Parts: sequence; C-alpha cells; structure tokens
Amino acid sequence: MRREFFDVLIIGAGAAGLNCALHLPERMQAFVVCKGGLKESDSFLAQGGICVLRDEGDAQGYFEDTMRAGHYENDPDTVRCMIAHSRETIEELISFGVRFARGEDGGLAYTREGAHSRPRIVFHADCTGKEITSHLLRAAQRRTNLALRPYTTMVDLLFAADGACLGAALRDNRSGEVFLAYAGNTVLATGGVGGLFAHSTNYRILTGDGVGAALAHGVAADHLDYVQFHPTTLYTQKRGRRFLISESVRGEGAQLLNGAGERFVDELLPRDVVTAAIREQMRREGSDHVMLDLRTVRGGAHTLMQHFPGIVRRCRQEGFDVFSAPIPVVPAQHYFMGGVKSDLSGRTGAPHLYAVGETCCNGVHGRNRLASNSLLEALIFARRAAADIAKGARASGWVQWDYTQKQLAALVRARRERVKRETHHEGK
Ligand code: SIN
Repeated sequence: MRREFFDVLIIGAGAAGLNCALHLPERMQAFVVCKGGLKESDSFLAQGGICVLRDEGDAQGYFEDTMRAGHYENDPDTVRCMIAHSRETIEELISFGVRFARGEDGGLAYTREGAHSRPRIVFHADCTGKEITSHLLRAAQRRTNLALRPYTTMVDLLFAADGACLGAALRDNRSGEVFLAYAGNTVLATGGVGGLFAHSTNYRILTGDGVGAALAHGVAADHLDYVQFHPTTLYTQKRGRRFLISESVRGEGAQLLNGAGERFVDELLPRDVVTAAIREQMRREGSDHVMLDLRTVRGGAHTLMQHFPGIVRRCRQEGFDVFSAPIPVVPAQHYFMGGVKSDLSGRTGAPHLYAVGETCCNGVHGRNRLASNSLLEALIFARRAAADIAKGARASGWVQWDYTQKQLAALVRARRERVKRETHHEGK
C-alpha cells in the first residue's frame, strides 16, 4: 500500500480546515484532503454573515446572547475567547481581500439575526461564506507548503499502541486506491452531519466522518444529540439539499405567517424556539410548511436586491416572486453543536489528534448555536489549533511506524471486533 508522510494532515477543506492550514508555519508540509470538490463545504453555503464584537461596550451583550441561545450550557471561557478574538479575525479576513458590506460612512455595515440583542453581524450580500472561504482557498492554493487534494475520503484514523494518532487511511474517490497518510499531527475538520438527515441545508457528503472515526477509536465526543434545525428553508417536495432562507431576512423585518396569514411567533427568538413554534403551527394546521413574507423587509425591494440577491434569484427559479407574495418555508437540519470533544486549542482526547469547526465540540455553542457564530468559531479555534501544532512541532520525521498491509488488516479486524462487542453489549 502506498504511504505518504506529512507534518500535518488536515481532513476537510472548509473554513476551519483551510484556516488551520494557512496558520501553520511555512516550514511545515501539510496535506489537506476533502471528500468532495474543494468548494463543496458548508462554509461556502453560509449566507447570513459572521459575528464580531463591534466595541467593548457590547462584550457583555454578545456574551449573554451566545449563552442564552445555548441555554447556558456553553463553556463560558470558550465563549469569552471567541468574542475576544473576533475583531482581529475580521481584520485578518479583510487583509486576505474579503469584502464586507459597508455603511454610508465607509465603516462596516452590521445586520441582525435571531437572539441577537443588537446588530453585530458583518456580511457580504447573502453569500458571506462563499466570499470568506473562496479567499481562504485561493490563499491556500498559493502556499507551497500546502498540498490540497479533493475527492479523497477518510477511511479510518491510524493510531499507535500508546493511543497517539499517526494519520489516516484515505481513499482516492476517483481511482478507488486506498493509501496511508502518516502525519505528525492530524486535524479533523470534516464538517457536520447533515448528510445523515433526509432534510438538511448541508451538503449530502457531510456524514459526520470525523466524529464516527474518533468514536470508533474511543476518542471522546460530546453532545451527539445537539442538532440544530434552521427555522426557514425553502419548502420543496424535491429531494436533496434544502435551500436556506437566511435568518438575516427576518433580522431585516421578514415575517412568519400561518395559513390564515397571521403572525404566530416573534421571528427573532432563538432558532430552536422559532423552529418549535413553526412545527407546532404546522401540526395544528395539518400543513407541511408555513409562509415567510419578505415584503416587510425594511427598505423593501431595494434591500432585497442589495442584501439578498441570491435568495431572490433562487426563489424566482423555484417559481416564487418574493416581491409579490409570501414564500413557503419549513425547518430543516442545519448545524451540529456536538462533536469530538476538544479544548481551546482544538486538542482532543488522543495525542496528536485535533478537531476543529463543526466536527468538534469545544462548548462554545452550548445546546443551540447563536446565529452567525459558526464561521467565527471555526476560524478562531482552527487558528489556535495551528498555533498549538506549531508549538509542539512533531514533524513527519517523527513517524517511526510503518504499517504493513498485514498490520493494517489486523487494525481493521480489531476495530470490527470492538464494534461487534459494543453492539452486543448494548443489545443486552
Ligand atoms: C443564516 O443565514 O440564517 C445562517 C447563518 C448561520 O447558520 O449562522
């Protein structure tokens, strides 16, 4: 079996994986792989924006909003760390060339989403994720110490007898070849779990691979039942990924209506509360959707065209004119707050294994993520993981292990046995 050696292996090329790669010292050779194309990550899909601490006067308000949305199950130190590093993160993105909407005075413009006590979200029209992640991707493609390999799936993680991670077995999806990538440090950035749900805003290829592999090797994970449903995705009977109608549409004044055309919930309550209210309304009416009226957005057609051109276009393609009538919406799976247990530097329970972005659970989101905290969290803690890796500096030369096909087969057999034993045990 072919073997490759790297200082760092990063599994996943969304905002977290790329930002981790970009913050590694250039002397470190990193291999960044992803299951689909390089642009097939949920980071590209994020519409609403990215939160930032506007001024010191908002530190307590931002903290409180994040904690309240998370039902106070968040780790307060992790939340404080994210907020404290938010401003420099936005400034760094701007230095990468990322463009955010500006107000008349040339300063950053801020929008609002559910559960935010004030507007503190910077945005690029309704495609903030694409604007940010495409710049990170371009920067990564220019770096000579980073090798980016799309269409490559993690088959399993490799561990030494002492529990330290050694890298991963990977499959080239196009040729079918399985090969071993050994690394001084391995970073799980495989995204969320939406592909496991019938209705989700996520790419279908996102099936919780990082969490699954970690769990299979006894690496601790937390809150696997903390799954967020976004209240408003465009209703359709077609199969496949659900199209998000950004919460910032409601932040700017769009209203949820029942079958009688009446409002039934405060649209800016936390996501889990609004989702529950919509479900209750659907149950009462025996309906499979409710309506969202975008005609009440402040600034009317002008705002819709300026701030939400992608949403207007997509609705038109699906046969809905947002300027003349409400559109049908329904909640769908959107985000995973649980994941591989990690600390403020992305370290997991296994030496030399890190987890960042939606794959990890560092406690920042609690039970329910506050809108537009996901990109920020992914960028900050991925950068911190890179700093930690650079500090530890376990390079590829460190790898003494050399798996033969026989040893690998033994590993796979042991894993199968263990799964069998655990299933048997659970069945009792
Ligand atoms: C949205 O635009 O509603 C999604 C943003 C997020 O998930 O935070």
